[in-house]
Amino acid sequence: MLKQPATKYRAFPPISLPDRQWPSRTITQAPIWMSTDLRDGNQSLFEPMNSTQKLRLFQELCTIGFKEIEVGFPSASQTDFNFVRQLITEGHIPSDVTIEVLTQAREHLIRQTIESLSGVKRAIVHVYNATSPQFRDVVFSLSQAEVIDLAVQSVKLVKTLVAEHPETEWVLQYSPETFSMTELDFALAICNAVTDAWEATPSNKIILNLPATVEAATPNIYADQIEWMHRHLAKRDSIIISLHPHNDRGTAVAATELALMAGADRVEGCLFGHGERTGNVDLVTMALNLYTQGVDPELDFSNVNAVARLVEECTQLPVHPRHPYVGDLVFTAFSGSHQDAIKKGFAAQKPDAIWNVPYLPLDPADVGRTYDSVIRVNSQSGKGGIAYLMEHVHGIVMPRRLQIEFAAVVQQHMDASGQEMSSEDLWNIFNQHYLASTTPFAYQQHHLFEHGHAQGIRVLMNRQEEQHWITGEGNGPIDAFMHALAQVGIEVKVHSYEERSMSSSASAGNAKACAFVELAQVGQSTMTYGVGIDENIITASLKAIISSLNRLGDGVVANYQKAA
Ligand code: KIV
Ligand code: ZN
Repeated sequence: MLKQPATKYRAFPPISLPDRQWPSRTITQAPIWMSTDLRDGNQSLFEPMNSTQKLRLFQELCTIGFKEIEVGFPSASQTDFNFVRQLITEGHIPSDVTIEVLTQAREHLIRQTIESLSGVKRAIVHVYNATSPQFRDVVFSLSQAEVIDLAVQSVKLVKTLVAEHPETEWVLQYSPETFSMTELDFALAICNAVTDAWEATPSNKIILNLPATVEAATPNIYADQIEWMHRHLAKRDSIIISLHPHNDRGTAVAATELALMAGADRVEGCLFGHGERTGNVDLVTMALNLYTQGVDPELDFSNVNAVARLVEECTQLPVHPRHPYVGDLVFTAFSGSHQDAIKKGFAAQKPDAIWNVPYLPLDPADVGRTYDSVIRVNSQSGKGGIAYLMEHVHGIVMPRRLQIEFAAVVQQHMDASGQEMSSEDLWNIFNQHYLASTTPFAYQQHHLFEHGHAQGIRVLMNRQEEQHWITGEGNGPIDAFMHALAQVGIEVKVHSYEERSMSSSASAGNAKACAFVELAQVGQSTMTYGVGIDENIITASLKAIISSLNRLGDGVVANYQKAA
């Protein structure tokens, strides 16, 4: 039993903002993105990245389209310091990309940080100190005034130091760490003080990064906090409001989306939600959420699998199979009703129309995924999924009643094995039950002939070791074959007949035609399908009839009389 929560935890108090605007806003454009994969993401790994991995990921982030990338914490790690130097001295930074580095608000660390950036064209210096009562009282024993003074003195020091390097365009970012657990009026006071110390103007904006360092409340609270700041900051036109949500409650994406509606301009996070503890907000989900609302995310995830594999290699952490938009299973339906709806959705979807396929919020092709894994068959699946795979992988478009019949056959196999069926497995079962069955009868060859107005046929059939020619006439080859069968005691009736050409994905070699025949013994109600595949449509039809006879079973054989 869990403890009584009220004796141990306190609910986060609501924010007083009765005229809040964010609930009726929508996001209509991409925010400024900042990837902190190489900093917050990296500092949370079992094994932080080496410089080779960092460089590969940096280049991938540039390719995806990030224009601001936090590349490390140079005063905290020699690897990070060297990496920043490597990026600058080896010329790895594209002209439209700005690197960012983090430093605590402490003099010697700030000096080392600025040193690491020597020679860079443009850089964001990111200074932080914690502001919440928990940190002021428990961790640092500092008063509010002392916390503000620390931030202001640090910003003034940065200002002095960067003035010695006019060859670089400098941007200041300040984070009141633990912002979302800080009293709003105090967060406002420190942000205004820092903005003044930097002498921010509309043409030289300061980035105020307002983190949910530990996510502690429902997403609407974070949105209220951001809207409150947005409305109260003294020099709003000289400020870029940045979000830095962590995911401790599993709602970082929701919090970020609502906070963007509340007036924020910028989002910091990591690919696939890497970062301390439960991670930073996932920038892939954020971007693709925008995309599926018709908003250009300005980040290119058109080959999201390649990005995922690279991130896995660099972080040694696997992407979860159900991770939104990128997990191995997220475009897969096992359940029969889902498969049926998806199949209908695909059939109805016009190439240039608005995407409208049930259960698939995103066209897998948009992120470089194929449709191959959309339908998979296990014991939860139904005829729809099986029919889909038979059509799309093997080129067999089954009539509806055959879909039902074959689904029952597959189900028997599944009950026996208890395992998922691959499309290969389905083909093998289909082949075994419909195409390759030779008992009791097997087709050998046939000849057509004319007799007056009638169509004649001679068919050589095997019955076990014996071969027999049977002959009949009718108003077409199939009718003639039915008469030939009747003459040897096999009295069957054709209930349905369909022939289809096979698509290019056909598994049956060069075969071009597929015939489906549904037969019942005269006087009996049990019907069963037979399927024949051949380059020649008449041969395919004869094979389909024999396949169906074989599936009708014993009653047919009992009546069979040897042909003379
Ligand atoms: O989570 C956080 O508050 C941080 C700060 C350094 C911005 O990572
Ligand atoms: Zn963080």
